[in-house]
Formats: sequence, structure tokens, C-alpha cells
Amino acid sequence: MLRPLSSIFKSSDYPDLLVGLDSPDDAAVWRLDDSRALVLTTDFFTPVVDEPYDYGAIAAANSLSDVYAMGGTPFLALNIAALPPDLDPEISAEILRGGAEMAVRAGVVIAGGHTVQDKEPKYGLVVVGFVDPSRTITKGGARPGDCLVLTKPLGFGVTTTALKRQQAFPEDVAEAVGWMTRLNRDAGRLALEAGVKGGTDVTGFALLGHGLELANASRVGLRLHFERIPFLSGARKYAEAWTFPGGASDNLQYFEDQVKFAASLDEASRMLLFDPQTSGGLLLAVPAERLDGLLQRAAEIDQPAWVIGEVIEGAGIEVD
Ligand code: CO
Ligand code: CO
Ligand code: CO
Repeated sequence: MLRPLSSIFKSSDYPDLLVGLDSPDDAAVWRLDDSRALVLTTDFFTPVVDEPYDYGAIAAANSLSDVYAMGGTPFLALNIAALPPDLDPEISAEILRGGAEMAVRAGVVIAGGHTVQDKEPKYGLVVVGFVDPSRTITKGGARPGDCLVLTKPLGFGVTTTALKRQQAFPEDVAEAVGWMTRLNRDAGRLALEAGVKGGTDVTGFALLGHGLELANASRVGLRLHFERIPFLSGARKYAEAWTFPGGASDNLQYFEDQVKFAASLDEASRMLLFDPQTSGGLLLAVPAERLDGLLQRAAEIDQPAWVIGEVIEGAGIEVD
């Protein structure tokens, strides 16, 4: 959709725009000087859970994630909201409170925002952060031999859609909410400490869609080992009940021809890798010699990290 804009905004006219439409990434990056660049992103979406507070918190964590995925530190944000005129003001207040308290946890100040009326609620943040331009993490920074590390389990889409259809167990929803309200701050910090150059966060295009963005921008292939990929406890059960959100079929359609699955993987397993995530984890391409150090630090700071595969020469994704 943004493609026509790249002929209007030519990157050669904006030498300080380090990451823009020419190399689509999690966030835009604008150089201020040799050691500092601004990271800029926005994201908003419709409710994924029933509790207004949790919805606000998840939306904020998700918006902040794109700054962490670039190796940046967010510091300033604006609310962006669309709320039904007949919505109980207490509910609107809870959504905004959830977002605000998540921002506080991230060390971010919300300095304003804009709200319009709309039938279906939408909420998120505009976020500004700083990054050291020489340490920016981009989708184009993965190299063959890097290990692929994922920092949250998958299965948020299939679990929250089961909730919408009133088929989800409360403990499964609580588990999903626990992960979705977890900031990617520590995961981003780990990546920076380990000198990671390639990475992204896993959101609407699912592990495979975002994995392909990483692979294609870096001109490499990815090999994933299914049995090493972490899932929420209920994910398998809901996948078998086929409570996938509509986005999962869209992802399948867009990305399927670039993915090779081992014959042993059944349809539910494959679809779980196309399941759209909200506020998902970081997918990092970690240089092999830095992996042990990263995993050790991860354990020390209580940051989950799963090694799910590796970067290889070639193109596309193989899942075995
Ligand atoms: Co992103
Ligand atoms: Co985003
Ligand atoms: Co305004």
C-alpha cells in the first residue's frame, strides 16, 4: 500500500533517513548525529481480549515493541484512539489506563494524543525512541550461520480467537495475556548486548511472514525446527479446533509458496506458524559465537529465549 509513496519521497533527498520506505522495517530511523538517531513508529488495533485494561496494556506493549525490535529505547509516546460514542466512559478510561501504566513500566511518558469516534474501538500509540545508529537492528542484518532466537511463545491468535468464540479456558487466556503484556524491552537489551544486527518482532504476519521479511531483506534463507518452537499451553488444542483468526488464512495465502514444510508436519502445526500474533516476541538472528553468552544473560535476567533454527544461504523458509 505504501509503495506509491516511495516515488514521492526519494531516499536520496533525505540522507538522514536511515530506515524508511526503501527498506521497510519495524520502525523508521532518522539520524540526529553520529551517535544518536530517532526511532519512530505507530500501531493501533481493535480489542483482542475482553478486559479493557488488558487491551490497553497489550496495545501499548505492542506499539513499543517496534522500537525495541530496532535496538532502540522508547521515551515518548502519544495515544491514538477511536472509541464508540456510546461506550461507558469507565471502559474508555480503563483502556487508556492500561496503556499508560505499560508506558510507565517502559520508562515512557505519554505526552498527548488524539481520539475520534468510531463504532469499533481502536487503540495504540505513536512512539519515539533513541537508537545508536551504528547498533540499529534491522530486517536486513541476518547472516548465514546466525542462530534464530525467539523470545515469546506463539499461539496468541488462535487462543484469543477461541476466547472471542467463547471456547477458551480462562487459564489459557490468562497465560496469553501474561505474554502479550510483557514488554520486549529486556529482549531488545539482550540483543544489543550480544551485538545482534538482524531481527524483528513477530506480529500480524506470524512467525513465517515476519521470518520471510527477515530472510528476504537479508537475502538469506531460514531453517526452523518445529519441535523447538515454543507454544502457549492451549495452542495445539485450539489449533485442532481450528479457532484461527482470519489473518491466519491470509498469511497462509501470501507466504505459503516461500515455505517448505517437512511432510511429517500436519495441517494444524503448519497453520500455527501462520497464526497472527499481537505483541509477540522478538525474532533475532544471533551470531553463533555470541549465542551462549546471550542465553546465559537471558537466564540471569529471567528473559525467556528459545533457539528455534538458523540462518542459511539461499531463500525462503524450511521447517522440519
Ligand atoms: Co514490527
Ligand atoms: Co508495527
Ligand atoms: Co488532534
